[in-house]
Amino acid sequence: MTATLNYRILVGLIAMLIASAFFMSRGSQSEETAASNPVCPGSPASVHASCEMKVSFPGTQCQTVLEEITARLNHENSWMDPHNKGKYSLISSKSSTDEKTGNEVNLINASHMTGNGKYTDLLNLQLTMGHDGSCVLETCSESQVTSILDFSTNFCNLHNLYCNDNESCNSIHHSLDYMEEYENCSQNTVSRCSS
Ligand SMILES: *[C@@H]1O[C@H](CO)[C@@H](O)[C@H](O)[C@H]1NC(C)=O
Ligand SMILES: *[C@@H]1O[C@H](CO)[C@@H](O)[C@H](O)[C@H]1NC(C)=O
Ligand SMILES: *[C@@H]1O[C@H](CO)[C@@H](O)[C@H](O)[C@H]1NC(C)=O
Repeated sequence: MTATLNYRILVGLIAMLIASAFFMSRGSQSEETAASNPVCPGSPASVHASCEMKVSFPGTQCQTVLEEITARLNHENSWMDPHNKGKYSLISSKSSTDEKTGNEVNLINASHMTGNGKYTDLLNLQLTMGHDGSCVLETCSESQVTSILDFSTNFCNLHNLYCNDNESCNSIHHSLDYMEEYENCSQNTVSRCSS
């Protein structure tokens, strides 16, 4: 009796393992088009424009950066995207605690539609406090359709969320100082972001 039961459990377990291995391999195949950076949202188009950046905000709390970026994503106070009046949408925003450092991590998922309503890109932002008292933003924007030249659109999608009053970006709550590092963002012409 018990032997038959154990045998059945064993057969059941093996079947489950095979099934999950099958689904996992299918899952990883469909995600192959996503860029390797974990902060990138991915894209169904295997050839597409994108921008990955690391931005630091010296001596600034992440809460301050989060307030300003969230306000712009929500178009608070009728805030207008200076790049062709694009439309941002906040998809989700959550906070968690990094188990290694104990620091808070803020994760934001959003989209950006071009002013003409033709193209919607996906963007993710991750904010963590750096060792030197700077808030660090790891971020990535990806086109969802086949594209090579994007005339800095993916860069502007990100840049316009924190650009400051000195470069005639209207801040809603805080004008932020920042430093950009282009990790995988070859099209990054700032002048494109305000026309
Ligand atoms: C840069 O982005 C492209 C397009 O998303 C991607 O295919 C490539 O793997 C990325 N390169 C690196 C070094 O992450
Ligand atoms: C949401 O964004 C975070 C980083 O901000 C990322 O780790 C996560 O994978 C994103 N979720 C989706 C569905 O893209
Ligand atoms: C604006 O520029 C001034 C000097 O030109 C500088 O001291 C200040 O930090 C800048 N502010 C921002 C938010 O970039």
